[in-house]
Amino acid sequence: MSQSNLNLATKTTGPVECLGQKFPSEEARREHFLKLLAQKLKDPEFRKIEGFPIGKDEDILAMSDPPYYTACPNPWLADFVKGYGTPYDPKQPYHREPFAADVSEGKNHPIYNAHSYHTKVPHQAIMRYLLHYTQPGDVVFDDFCGTGMTGVAAQLCGNRAEIQSLGYRIKDDGTILNEEGKAISKLGSRRAILNDLSPAATFIASNYNIAVDPPAFEQQAKRILGEVEAECGWMFETKHTEVDPNNWTTG
Ligand SMILES: C[S@@+](CC[C@H](N)C(=O)[O-])C[C@H]1O[C@@H](n2cnc3c(N)ncnc32)[C@H](O)[C@@H]1O
Repeated sequence: MSQSNLNLATKTTGPVECLGQKFPSEEARREHFLKLLAQKLKDPEFRKIEGFPIGKDEDILAMSDPPYYTACPNPWLADFVKGYGTPYDPKQPYHREPFAADVSEGKNHPIYNAHSYHTKVPHQAIMRYLLHYTQPGDVVFDDFCGTGMTGVAAQLCGNRAEIQSLGYRIKDDGTILNEEGKAISKLGSRRAILNDLSPAATFIASNYNIAVDPPAFEQQAKRILGEVEAECGWMFETKHTEVDPNNWTTG
């Protein structure tokens, strides 16, 4: 199953808006923010942040897709929260019963298997919590994100098929009903902020969650598979002699 089948974000080719600014393309957006990140990396105070990755500027920049993903502390975090978060309003009542249900899920979903990781959590289990505790558009923070399954779950809270696969029903107005027919949530993706001490983890998480350009992805995947096949394919070959099926005798 590909990301596009699941309606995870697909990279647009036209103009884009990011943090209140308009750009002619995703490339222009990335270039603009890469320049800002390059300047930030020269700031010794920025590099003093505890846990700052040991790496050259050029490597951090090559891995990053700012402002969405930086292979170091993300200087735009506060902007995202300001832009997309809802300030706490004590006048707005918020009450949820503690979520106490079976969330055991199989570990065989194509998303789960796309990249292994220690103590990886199936995204369907996280979806049940997000649907219970949050509303569409809410900002969810996972400070120990590993491979970013919280981000995948947050996006898939807007995907009918994935929600139905949890055993829930969805009404025409987007209300989600549980197995007993009780309204428990609303259809709509949530926004995730993902963090991890490990740059390898955040890199995997970003690739699971950031919009992709499917044709470019397919092209690169085929190129890599071709290179691996050329280098390692011989290990999977068998040595055999051709047998004429019309002249087959058993001993
Ligand atoms: C159990 S894993 C999370 C796996 C994740 N639920 C998934 O599905 O992929 C815990 C993560 O916490 C990270 N971690 C440990 N200490 C941390 C810290 N002080 N700050 C941020 N991340 C930390 C580890 O690098 C690891 O990736």
